[in-house]
Amino acid sequence: MRTNYCNNIKNKKIGLKIKLCGWVNNYRNLGNIIFINLRDCEGIVQILFNNNNKNLFNKANTLRNEFCIKITGIIHHRKKKNINYKIINGNIEIYAIKLKIFNKSKILPININSYNNEKYRLKYRYLDLRSIYMLEKIKMRSKLIFFIHKFMNSYGFLNIDTPILNKETPEGARDYIVPSRINKGKFYALPQSPQLFKQLLMISGFDKYYQIAKCFRDEDLRFDRQPEFTQIDIESSFSYSFQIRNLIENMINKIFLFLNKIKIKKFKVLKFNESIKLYGCDKPDLRNPLKLIDIHNLLNFDEILKIFPKINKNIKIRATSILINNYKILKNKINFYSKKLLKYGLKKIFWIKLKKNNKIIKITHNLNKYLSFKKIKKILKFLKAKKNNLIFFCIDEENIVNKSFSYLRNKLGKDLKIIDKKIIKPLWVINFPMFKINEKKKLVPTHHPFAKPINNKINIENLKNNPENVISDSYDIIINGHEIGGGSSRINNIKIQKKIFNLIGIKEKEMKDKFGFFLEAMKYGTPPHAGIALGLDRLVMLLTNTKNIRDVIPFPKTQNYNCLLSKSPCNVNNSLLKELGISIIK
Ligand code: AMO
Repeated sequence: MRTNYCNNIKNKKIGLKIKLCGWVNNYRNLGNIIFINLRDCEGIVQILFNNNNKNLFNKANTLRNEFCIKITGIIHHRKKKNINYKIINGNIEIYAIKLKIFNKSKILPININSYNNEKYRLKYRYLDLRSIYMLEKIKMRSKLIFFIHKFMNSYGFLNIDTPILNKETPEGARDYIVPSRINKGKFYALPQSPQLFKQLLMISGFDKYYQIAKCFRDEDLRFDRQPEFTQIDIESSFSYSFQIRNLIENMINKIFLFLNKIKIKKFKVLKFNESIKLYGCDKPDLRNPLKLIDIHNLLNFDEILKIFPKINKNIKIRATSILINNYKILKNKINFYSKKLLKYGLKKIFWIKLKKNNKIIKITHNLNKYLSFKKIKKILKFLKAKKNNLIFFCIDEENIVNKSFSYLRNKLGKDLKIIDKKIIKPLWVINFPMFKINEKKKLVPTHHPFAKPINNKINIENLKNNPENVISDSYDIIINGHEIGGGSSRINNIKIQKKIFNLIGIKEKEMKDKFGFFLEAMKYGTPPHAGIALGLDRLVMLLTNTKNIRDVIPFPKTQNYNCLLSKSPCNVNNSLLKELGISIIK
């Protein structure tokens, strides 16, 4: 129907006849001239109707915002005084010679050219998607998917799809379940990831697998989490974990270079323990130069006891600090931070301010109750504190210190404006502990139960006696503080696999019911293999500098797991429930 899109007219010949299709973005009637801005999925261009052609002019006079139309017209230069240098096509306009109105439009319930409440944006998502803001994000998503297919194919990976209706996958969240009509009382589970199937494909002999996979997890939502999201899922046989990481580094480098014109300098690698030590967390934003500096060795037992009287051998404690160069910027914020840290469970936070001449000007009001002046000086010397510095420090349970000082580091980074927003700083965090203890004091896998313990000599006895000290050959990729992906080398020894299930409390019967098919498959010559999955939505967030995952997904769910557009989830009628053999408990 069209000869051009609205964006690529600027360089076309003046006087050329073109046909454009799209929506009326806005219109102005100046009496003898009508201007409309025509918008399509590529851009906007100005159309002019003058009243020499009465019929056309009268028809144009009926146009309103968001009417869907086709224009035939001639490209003209704008008069010099009318050139708009701020927009593409700002030096030209189209003199209309024909107008076809495909469809009128009601007045839109949202204004696609300005800010709208998200509730209305999601209810009328198909209109919200007309905005340039959303258009750009969805286009980037499409470009990224295209790029991934090209990249993976160039490395010989096969795109293989795996079932959506299946059985529970242990990624740590709740499953979404789907009732089976034919097998009454039985349920499928939607995949939390294709983990087991991609490992089965390795046993099948498909050396290199990838898939842009839909995953479903019933878990608490956050700014970067959706119940239904997309992974770039990868697995490869006869590969070491460093080879998977090299492949991903290459992919990420190219993605940012080609789609964002950003050259990444290097990928840092930190062991899990090193990351916790330096940053208090396993997803540090490396653009933030602040680090945690431990001061435990400077304090004696009595001093620690005074500050943290709960010492006992079952509680690991940590004494750490953060040093800031120029405290003045933070004048009114110190109390705010202290209060905020209380919420993370940190009972006491101390700070010391240094004057221009290196003298202490202020310390937390009660610090000298706990530490002598000599000790305070010793700490300052150790930290190489100088004029205008501000030092925060604390002693508490290790977990509490890590959580609260990692928060403090992030907050200080933002408040001091020391984070360079234009750069991309990726990091591999590797060698996670195999297990962690959850709130119910149960041993659970840090990643999932298929990650391989790092030490090849690891034996069953070791696993049994010392599970908390076992390290897995695992890796997360963190970019600018966001967890973009995670993976590992996989267990290919059935005895170790069973032991891991056993350690996380899966008994023989449950193991057979849930994973019997997988354990059986492991008996037929399982190759060594490794893999990873990247969160596609989170990558688009980074590429488009977006803070809300819903803005990079065409039809997302709200924080309450609803689709405001289609109104799902919803009731189903009783006859269907009956057919499925389901009754609802009120
Ligand atoms: P993991 O659970 O770490 O690993 O998931 C991989 C990546 O998927 C993204 N992600 C999410 N994105 C949006 N919403 C969510 N609810 C969500 N959950 C996860 C994150 C995360 O890093 N099977 C393993 C991978 C493997 O071992 O190969 C897995 O799924 O960016």
